[in-house]
Amino acid sequence: MIGSRNETATQRMTAPVNPIQHSFELAAERGEDLTPLVYDRLFREHPETQAMFRSDGSELVRGSMLAQTIEAMLDFAGERSGRFRMIECEVQSHDGYGTSRELFGKFFGVIAATMREVLGNDWSPEIDAAWRKLLGEIDRLVASSQPQIEA
Ligand code: HEM
Repeated sequence: MIGSRNETATQRMTAPVNPIQHSFELAAERGEDLTPLVYDRLFREHPETQAMFRSDGSELVRGSMLAQTIEAMLDFAGERSGRFRMIECEVQSHDGYGTSRELFGKFFGVIAATMREVLGNDWSPEIDAAWRKLLGEIDRLVASSQPQIEA
């Protein structure tokens, strides 16, 4: 669970500090639901995306898409257990949703901007640097994903 409050003080002290994880913990402490904030920003900055989501039952899909994206980002910024590989897979499945690779990549920046807004003064230079590095690395990952093989 992202930003779980069950984490003990000792675990906090011994765990290596990962500014990306830390930023999500700070956001969770604020009790703010990121989902509406992220999608409001996405639809404001890229209005063409709104029509891509089906009007019926898309709330669940949107919530799930964001949760899985965040899990993948945390894995990519942290232990790289393999969870982040879904990013490359989703580049391909999003072809089918009419989402270009360029647009696909924008979602990560939308999440970053939302986090910055939610964290306010807690958005430290260290967190900023870690997010910039992460976004650059994800850009390269998305750009290098293999195109879908035509049947
Ligand atoms: C602006 C960029 C993006 C747009 C417009 C977009 C659009 C969509 C749409 C329309 C669907 C729903 C398809 C349906 O109705 O079944 C979807 C599902 C999904 N998207 Fe995205 N997507 C974007 C970026 C991303 C990124 C960056 C990731 C993760 C790396 C991602 C992961 C997923 C996943 C996992 C689902 C399936 C959710 C579920 O049903 O559990 N998307 N996306």
